[in-house]
Amino acid sequence: MNRELLKQYLEFYRDLGIETLYRRNVTPGAGSAAAAVMEEAAPGQVSILPGIAPGNDSLEKILEDIGDCQRCRLHEGRNRIVFGTGDARAKLVFVGEGPGADEDEQGVPFVGRAGQLLTQMIENTAAREGIALKRPDVYICNIVKCRPPGNRTPEPDEMEICGEFVFRQLSVIHPKAICALGGTAARALLGRKEGVTKLRGNWYKWRDIPVMVTYHPSYLLRPYNQSAKREAWEDLKKVLHYVYD
Ligand code: URA
Repeated sequence: MNRELLKQYLEFYRDLGIETLYRRNVTPGAGSAAAAVMEEAAPGQVSILPGIAPGNDSLEKILEDIGDCQRCRLHEGRNRIVFGTGDARAKLVFVGEGPGADEDEQGVPFVGRAGQLLTQMIENTAAREGIALKRPDVYICNIVKCRPPGNRTPEPDEMEICGEFVFRQLSVIHPKAICALGGTAARALLGRKEGVTKLRGNWYKWRDIPVMVTYHPSYLLRPYNQSAKREAWEDLKKVLHYVYD
């Protein structure tokens, strides 16, 4: 896209009263027209063409915008769109990878075996640490909202398309911290390439919000992953104390 067109694009959004632009993980080449115009529009803020984040955004509006989404191939096999669940004003948001069979059936994230483990982890760890917290007090969603066939890992284009809505959800809720469950969620949020073993246990940022990476509960369900369970428990303690102390 040439510089003039880009400028018009940005002015058009500004005229609509849209001031918040999404940061994408792809950086335009240094010195490119895109980089120059973005820097002019929002210095240090934006690295490639923006998605739209309406000024008065809300979870209801996002749900409405998603509609009967057919923007990517995942809609072909889904029964339900799994939007997210929990407190819209939660201080802590958990982000998983994508719905499984049970979630696709019920339209609610993390309700199958992995979900039950996640619920136990949240509630039992909180209780042991003296923090009054139940699952409905947090918010839970996934990087993609439709079940990938055979529970495969979501493709980059699927995450890119759905990511626009997840990022809007995170912006609206604006929690004190985010917990990324597993490598796929971590990579999608942080734009990093490393695996979960490398990333877990440390703090990163999604925009201005601290992100803790830990193992996905499905991984912890495997019987030979005892040490990972201990590590996930340590990660969760860190997040809970940071958010609720
Ligand atoms: N795994 C996920 O990543 N998300 C769910 O909602 C369920 C299982």
